[in-house]
Amino acid sequence: MGSRPTGIDYSDIHRIDSPANRALRATIWAKGDDLGQQSFATPRYFDFIAARLGMGPGMRVLDLGSGSGGPAVYIADRTGCRLTGLEVNEVGVEVSRSVAQKAGLEDRVDFVLADGMDMPFDDATFDAVYSMNVMNVFPDKVALFREVRRVLRPGGVWAFLSGTFEFGPGDEEARRLYEAGYAIPQYTDDLAGYKRKLAEAGFVVDEVTEYISDYRATIARWLDGWRAHRDAIAAEQGADQTDHHIAYFVAYLRMIDEGKASNHLVISHRPEN
Ligand SMILES: C[S@@+](CC[C@H](N)C(=O)[O-])C[C@H]1O[C@@H](n2cnc3c(N)ncnc32)[C@H](O)[C@@H]1O
Repeated sequence: MGSRPTGIDYSDIHRIDSPANRALRATIWAKGDDLGQQSFATPRYFDFIAARLGMGPGMRVLDLGSGSGGPAVYIADRTGCRLTGLEVNEVGVEVSRSVAQKAGLEDRVDFVLADGMDMPFDDATFDAVYSMNVMNVFPDKVALFREVRRVLRPGGVWAFLSGTFEFGPGDEEARRLYEAGYAIPQYTDDLAGYKRKLAEAGFVVDEVTEYISDYRATIARWLDGWRAHRDAIAAEQGADQTDHHIAYFVAYLRMIDEGKASNHLVISHRPEN
């Protein structure tokens, strides 16, 4: 399993139906927008990507790092495409399969347990690949992008949404908190780094959109949720991890407010030859 971080388990977070997670999600998504996502991405991002990538019946799409499966099922349901979710966490895959089954979409949506660095798909399997809030878990993004390019057909589209960072002097503690991660260590990049690495892996960048004010609002709601349910989450998932997440969100919001953290949707394609 290639680059899978060892000793790290995302399972607590993928159990969206545990009492603490249910309370947390009710706080975060009380005003709507709950797709079962394990990210800061709201439905409008998924709607935009589905439209921009022209998803529809007959199209083969991969969700890289599909989490608990809600977004993949949402997109497949709305567009009629055939969707595969790839996820490295077993609980995530189990939950995803039951979400697809409940939606009656098992014939068009499947979930595969594997590492994004080493995907069990033939060359040129997909018309489009997208990934939401996953990129920072990969230390070697050029190698990841090459693997994405391999499974994409020539002309296929690759879209990802990712936090982007420009740490400076005085940000050592924020960097430490961020890179210790949200359950999984994070390896950050700035937008220029992403563009360079995409080109190195053979992609042509078509469009970059910065989204930050709505993204900040969602991160603030995650912080409110973790604070409101701190004791319940700590009892279920451990005090250290819970308190780390609270500090992580505080540092993340400060970085955004100081203009050092942002969020970009990057759309690129694999050239025809
Ligand atoms: C922040 S969550 C986002 C999940 C999903 N994209 C969403 O929006 O709900 C990041 C996901 O990446 C997965 N992940 C981490 N390392 C991975 C790897 N090497 N290959 C595939 N998925 C990975 C994690 O298990 C987690 O589900």
